[in-house]
Amino acid sequence: MISIFLILGSLVSTLLAGASTEYQAINCRKHSAVLTDFGGVGDGKTSNTKAFKAAIAELSQYASDGGAQLIVPPGKWLTGSFNLSSHFTLFLHKDAVLLASQDEAEWPAFPPLPSYGVGRDEHAGRFSSLIFGTHLTDVVVTGNNGTIDGQGAVWWDKFHQKKLKLTRPYLIEFLYSDQVQISNLTLINSPSWNVHPTYCSNVLIQWLTILAPVDSPNTDGINPDSSSNVRIEDSFVVSGDDCIAVKSGWDEYGIKFGRPTQHLVIRRFTCISPDSATIALGSEMSGGIQDVRAEDITALSTQSGVRIKTAVGRGAYVKDIFVRRMTLKTMKYAFWMTGSYGSHPDTGYDPKALPEIKGISYKDIVAENVTYSARLEGIENDPFTGICISNVNISLTLKPKELQWNCTDIQGVSSKVTPQPCAALPEKSIECPFPEDRLPIEDVKLQTCSASSYASHADEGYDAKALLEITRINYKDEVDENITIQGKLGLGEENPSIGICIYNITMSLAKKHNEPAWNCTDISAVSSNATPKSCSAMAKKSMECPFPEDKLPIEKGSKLVLPLARS
Ligand SMILES: *[C@@H]1O[C@H](CO)[C@@H](O)[C@H](O)[C@H]1NC(C)=O
Ligand SMILES: *[C@@H]1O[C@H](CO)[C@@H](O)[C@H](O)[C@H]1NC(C)=O
Ligand SMILES: *[C@@H]1O[C@H](CO)[C@@H](O)[C@H](O)[C@H]1NC(C)=O
Ligand SMILES: *[C@@H]1O[C@H](CO)[C@@H](O)[C@H](O)[C@H]1NC(C)=O
Ligand SMILES: *[C@@H]1O[C@H](CO)[C@@H](O)[C@H](O)[C@H]1NC(C)=O
Ligand SMILES: *[C@@H]1O[C@H](CO)[C@@H](O)[C@H](O)[C@H]1NC(C)=O
Ligand SMILES: *[C@@H]1O[C@H](CO)[C@@H](O)[C@H](O)[C@H]1NC(C)=O
Ligand SMILES: *[C@@H]1O[C@H](CO)[C@@H](O)[C@H](O)[C@H]1NC(C)=O
Ligand SMILES: *[C@@H]1O[C@H](CO)[C@@H](O)[C@H](O)[C@H]1NC(C)=O
Repeated sequence: MISIFLILGSLVSTLLAGASTEYQAINCRKHSAVLTDFGGVGDGKTSNTKAFKAAIAELSQYASDGGAQLIVPPGKWLTGSFNLSSHFTLFLHKDAVLLASQDEAEWPAFPPLPSYGVGRDEHAGRFSSLIFGTHLTDVVVTGNNGTIDGQGAVWWDKFHQKKLKLTRPYLIEFLYSDQVQISNLTLINSPSWNVHPTYCSNVLIQWLTILAPVDSPNTDGINPDSSSNVRIEDSFVVSGDDCIAVKSGWDEYGIKFGRPTQHLVIRRFTCISPDSATIALGSEMSGGIQDVRAEDITALSTQSGVRIKTAVGRGAYVKDIFVRRMTLKTMKYAFWMTGSYGSHPDTGYDPKALPEIKGISYKDIVAENVTYSARLEGIENDPFTGICISNVNISLTLKPKELQWNCTDIQGVSSKVTPQPCAALPEKSIECPFPEDRLPIEDVKLQTCSASSYASHADEGYDAKALLEITRINYKDEVDENITIQGKLGLGEENPSIGICIYNITMSLAKKHNEPAWNCTDISAVSSNATPKSCSAMAKKSMECPFPEDKLPIEKGSKLVLPLARS
């Protein structure tokens, strides 16, 4: 036994220090709370939707007072969709798992996105995303690699069996928000797309691990959609659809909404997706895609590298796309552009709305075990222009396609590319461009914040003068054996505990015991018949400590009258 008497103010802060984690974020928060403060139950069975809503409703009040963070401690936290607020951080402890509810009642229905016109699975609309927010400023979803499990299998079945009434939910989605960070999380088995920043600006996505079965439907990893100034880095996606899909709305709805995705940086990114692209541009690109910079990209067993997907009716543009330093292994296509993707929201699209695809630059690429070097298919009377490919070495699989470079309706140049490109990409002694400047999102400074899984103070507003009173504590008639620390008594000099009484206590010490046996700070006490001798802060008095002589009503056997039992 460690300690018999323990009255100790510093104990709480010792625990706090041990459980605290530091993390990097665009902003730290002044106020902090733990999900369990709001009735959260981490048993994997109890719904925490209400606890999340209550927590965020409460903490959103601090938006203009230094912001707040909500910590999800270790446990399995079943939940439906909930909304975040501004100047807010959701932090998932490494052993915390958010389990997405499979009960449709836990997912509010939303109308389709304005830039899409219709829901993608079902035209009627869509289910709210698991973690959602709209019109927010400064919102962070992070952790030390905590997990969000979409439990997607039931949704995938409903999709395959055409039993969906609305479009499947995504895991994390923000609309019309500025200063968004999503980092240090593991996302698994999303019902559909994983991370979907839409109509957002200044978005930082880092250190995500996103995993879904490679045959799961539409489990795209990260889909920046009609968003500006986005940085995606140091992430790994295994998925049943595109690892990253850059989007900006669908046909006539996207053209009308007119919001591009632009100033996008993707770097140090790894993808495995046997039936889809490492980075897709489109197919929904009707608000335009411009200024994408991708570098240090790795793909394994993936269908294609960077793929442009578009169609007649999409309108808008994909331009100023720069890719360098890709390493590709076991690919169907190293390069793929598709001008006939089709897939329209409805028949209302404008057949004269031709997309403009130009200024596409690829360089410094090594691809191994490739079936088809390039399939570059523009649109008749709407060629894809300004394509530049330089310093590319492609080695082929044992059974390669006979026509390695299949180019239609495209124009451009190439340099130092093997195998030799098509005639539409004549050899020029050039190096394809990559921008030299930096985007503002690359210079965002992160701060070191801290998160603790134990509730301490609800916020910084607690009264430091609100001291607790510890008094009239009586211990008597105890025999204790093999004790390491006999007594550790004290709350701090500001707050002495008084009126402690110790009588007839016999302790035998462990072989290795603390010295002094009694460690008394800031107490005032009396003792009698204590072995070993108590501390000097305890005046020796020959008295017995009191124990009440009277009986409480509950001990008297009186009949209990319950108010509700009365008829
Ligand atoms: C989240 O916000 C949206 C848009 O304001 C609202 O329609 C929805 O009901 C909110 N969801 C929850 C779970 O509060
Ligand atoms: C986030 O991930 C990076 C890379 O693994 C790591 O260096 C950093 O410490 C992580 N942050 C937290 C809070 O775990
Ligand atoms: C995060 O967890 C995932 C899944 O367990 C793991 O694959 C990944 O390596 C972890 N990342 C870090 C930085 O620890
Ligand atoms: C492609 O191979 C050539 C010749 O071996 C080499 O000089 C060049 O650096 C290689 N390119 C890349 C991107 O590795
Ligand atoms: C090469 O690619 C084929 C599929 O085209 C695959 O079956 C084979 O395992 C790959 N070989 C290596 C060495 O990765
Ligand atoms: C070349 O590409 C066009 C357009 O994608 C396709 O229709 C045609 O079948 C391809 N030809 C070969 C030989 O692969
Ligand atoms: C002291 O405490 C022991 C253990 O509870 C008890 O047996 C003994 O009677 C007590 N002695 C006195 C003098 O109260
Ligand atoms: C006494 O406590 C120590 C740990 O402090 C333990 O290792 C030892 O087995 C105990 N001895 C007896 C006799 O219970
Ligand atoms: C006595 O307790 C105080 C307060 O907990 C602690 O700071 C101190 O290190 C202890 N002294 C010994 C000798 O254990």
